[in-house]
Order: sequence, then structure tokens, then C-alpha cells
Amino acid sequence: MQILVIHGPNLNLLGSREPGVYGATTLAQIDADLQQFAANAGATLESFQSNHEGALVDRIQAAGRDGTRFIIINPAAYTHTSVAIRDALAAVALPFVEVHLSNIHKREAFRHHSYVSELALGVICGLGPQGYRYALMHALDHVRASAG
Ligand code: DQA
Repeated sequence: MQILVIHGPNLNLLGSREPGVYGATTLAQIDADLQQFAANAGATLESFQSNHEGALVDRIQAAGRDGTRFIIINPAAYTHTSVAIRDALAAVALPFVEVHLSNIHKREAFRHHSYVSELALGVICGLGPQGYRYALMHALDHVRASAG
């Protein structure tokens, strides 16, 4: 069972980037935790981070062909701007959960709207790195249930 985790722009700076908002955990730590959790559950998990919208679109498109069963995505700033990422997710039609470390609804008004939420199975925000863990738990359940 293949699960893909996609991290958008500036998330490579986690740990040092606005720690008051995003915490002290690095992206490598988040990915290692998810990797371990997935392995324990007998699943394979791949993480992908890019600061480039087109690279994120390319990776989502590739997920439609490479056996990916579920996507966990934090589109970061592109959440609020990218019709292209939304369209890529719609095109591959894979189930996905949207994750944000911070509670985007408690922040600036421009962060309140997400272009992808409407297509997501669910949205987790404000729970820090744990949010990815919860999304992964759901992904594992969802894929198992849909495999019958
Ligand atoms: C974020 C929230 C976005 O508004 C912001 O642009 C990010 C990170 C989060 O995880 O809380 O880069 O997606």
C-alpha cells in the first residue's frame, strides 16, 4: 500500500521557520516519524517537498500513474492561491487529506480559504506535526477499507 506525503513551499524550513507558529520539529523529523508509523503498519510511504508549484503539480500527476493509493498534502501557501494544484488533485482523483500545522482559521483572513479543501476527504489543521500522524492513521484505514 503506497501513501504519498506532499509538502509545499517553505516547509523545508520547518524547525527554524517562525517556530512560534510552526513549532520546532523539522520536516525530516516529521517524515521519519511518518515513515516509521507506515512501516509498522506494513505500508510504504514516500515524502516529497517542493517550493515550486509546477513540481508539485508534476508529482501529483505522477501519483495517478505510480500506484499511489492515498495522498496526504500540506500545500502550504499554495493552499490559498493554486488552482493548478487543485486541478491536479481533481485530475488524479485519488483520496487525500489536507493538513496544516497551524490553525489557518485563527490566522490572517487570506489563509482562511483553501482551494483544495472542497475536494479533500478531510482537513486537519492546528494540531502541529501530530496532524500528519492523524492523517496517516486515516489513510491506512481508508485504503484498507477500500481494498475490501
Ligand atoms: C501552512 C499554513 C499556510 O497558510 C502557510 O502558508 C504555510 C503553512 C501550515 O501548515 O500551517 O506555509 O500550510
